[in-house]
Amino acid sequence: MPQSAQPNTRQAALWNDVSGKAWVEMQPILDEVLAPFERLVVDAGSPGEGGNVLDIGCGAGATTLAMARLVGNDGRCVGLDISQPLVALATERTRREEVANASFEVGDAQAYAFESGHFDAVVSRFGVMFFDDPVAAFTNIRRAARRGGKLAFVAWRSPVENDFMTTAARAAAPFLPPAPAPDPDAPGQFAFADGAKVKRILDASGWASIEVEQVDVLCQIAQDDLMTYVTRLGSVGAALREVDRATAEKITTVLPAAFAPFMEDGEARFNAACWLVTALA
Ligand SMILES: C[S@@+](CC[C@H](N)C(=O)[O-])C[C@H]1O[C@@H](n2cnc3c(N)ncnc32)[C@H](O)[C@@H]1O
Repeated sequence: MPQSAQPNTRQAALWNDVSGKAWVEMQPILDEVLAPFERLVVDAGSPGEGGNVLDIGCGAGATTLAMARLVGNDGRCVGLDISQPLVALATERTRREEVANASFEVGDAQAYAFESGHFDAVVSRFGVMFFDDPVAAFTNIRRAARRGGKLAFVAWRSPVENDFMTTAARAAAPFLPPAPAPDPDAPGQFAFADGAKVKRILDASGWASIEVEQVDVLCQIAQDDLMTYVTRLGSVGAALREVDRATAEKITTVLPAAFAPFMEDGEARFNAACWLVTALA
């Protein structure tokens, strides 16, 4: 991937504009859907009470706050995110929830000038698949951890294994211009779909004791929230912001039927096919 002097300009633009604003708007729904992963990451990455933790791509801060509570008042969790609107929400939330040992910074984890060896653990819930140069990013992140410090993050496996995540795009495809075949190495939701590649990236970045474990998690989203979710986020959310009204109407009409196979007792239930990745600095 060609590098500009400043990395991740495209992702920075997205997360400071449409994607970031959509995640701000959807924060309560997203945190509910992704709650099982918060537990997974916090448990796998916890350095114990009093630990000092970094949360990469922290978004609106759910995992940062959960980790701050776990490490207690003698510890700290710092959330870092490239998105100014999401960090503003996370900061506001932290004040509201009175979690004194959590704080947030706006910055690009690939280039951020971390204090060397500062953190006992580094965690992320779906926040590390967006780097232009993942080896440069994970090398920089490793330097932020003390020797032997923990890394724990979750990332999505392939689109084929995550059919819920691709249902909206498949349903909308007949109404949209043909999309180019996705580049599996481009930054984005499925950039870490290949577990062997994730292992190679961490190895090349100097991490040790790398484990890439397959995890399948049952997630739920209330029927009322589902259409908000699929029409605001992802490629269909982006397409709906661009197309004319008639096309938008055709797409929103077919979406409920496309999700019918997932519906049960007033909610959509789906398997989230992910990797739980752990390593030591
Ligand atoms: C899928 S969201 C996950 C947010 C949050 N971890 C959660 O689970 O709610 C990905 C996050 O990664 C952030 N991000 C993307 N590229 C980044 C980078 N280079 N450095 C720091 N954060 C980044 C985005 O702004 C976004 O908040």
